[in-house]
Amino acid sequence: MRIAQAGLFRSIKKDLEILEEDLLESVKSDVPLVTEVGTHLVKSGGKRLRPALLLAAAHASRNFSRDRVMPLAAAVEMIHMASLVHDDVIDHADTRRGTPTANAKWGNQVAILSGDYFFAQAFSKVAHARYGEEVGMRLAKLVSELSVGEIQQDAMMFTAEHSIEEYYQRIEKKTADFLAICCELGAMVSGADEEVCRGLYSYGHCIGMAFQITDDLLDIVGDAKKLGKPAGNDILQGVVTLPVIRALEKSPNRDELAAIITNRHMTDEDVKRALEIVKATDGVDFAKSKADEFLAEAKKALPKELPEDIRETFVAAADYIGKRDF
Ligand code: FPP
Ligand code: MG
Ligand code: MG
Repeated sequence: MRIAQAGLFRSIKKDLEILEEDLLESVKSDVPLVTEVGTHLVKSGGKRLRPALLLAAAHASRNFSRDRVMPLAAAVEMIHMASLVHDDVIDHADTRRGTPTANAKWGNQVAILSGDYFFAQAFSKVAHARYGEEVGMRLAKLVSELSVGEIQQDAMMFTAEHSIEEYYQRIEKKTADFLAICCELGAMVSGADEEVCRGLYSYGHCIGMAFQITDDLLDIVGDAKKLGKPAGNDILQGVVTLPVIRALEKSPNRDELAAIITNRHMTDEDVKRALEIVKATDGVDFAKSKADEFLAEAKKALPKELPEDIRETFVAAADYIGKRDF
């Protein structure tokens, strides 16, 4: 579900409508298959959280100009889209949000190359808009971090030796940095004060941490239908998340849990048993309380100078992440 449909980001409703048109336009190519893949991806949805945060942050400045900020908003969503297309190939995922993935529909080759195309289109938009060196550098660093994070995650798959600190670093690269940079860059290209940019960066970082922790705990306790993927999918894929790390620290059945999550050939029954062991500990509550701590920190980080409706939007976005169940 788009966040706009969740009643959030009302203050930037018009911006989000224009974003959809811009995205559909941006994925067009002279090659019909590329346009087809792009249109499928844009239409199959996404929360549009990254561009929404960027646009809301841009409203933090009195000099807000939709024309100026829109290419950047579309670019971050396209980078996100490209990363998910690649991620679905890496994860051998057949569906995302209940819709067939690009790799399922057109095969790995077309999916990977389309991802590359959208990624390049995103940077081309940014170059055309002439936001300056700083914006280009930050986006490039963000993608480096995303890629390094995925490589780190891959190296740690099916292992049982994880620290909470290492988990935090991983989700920072995977999610929090991205949301932080969206908040910061929206404010920056609209000419907001440095302090506002910094405050919004921290806000984005904290909600990003909370967002990923919530995502990870929903994999354990979420409703498979709402999530569009089966419970325990992370465990099955060898990805170890906060509730599991906590259970590895606290569970009397720690060795049994470790044996399951390190087994590359685990069965669905094994996954069920692992979930049972995790749920019998305080792992999920622990993760939930960490997510709530990050959300409280996010609200505290919001700059004082924000226009009231934009402050409310950011607060509502944090509350939405806290209550999310899909
Ligand atoms: C989803 O995580 C994946 C990411 C947040 C990042 C993926 C990044 C890359 C593949 C590298 C960057 C590449 C480009 C072209 C920008 P998940 O698999 O845990 O979650 P899911 O359930 O949404 O698949
Ligand atoms: Mg995935
Ligand atoms: Mg993945």
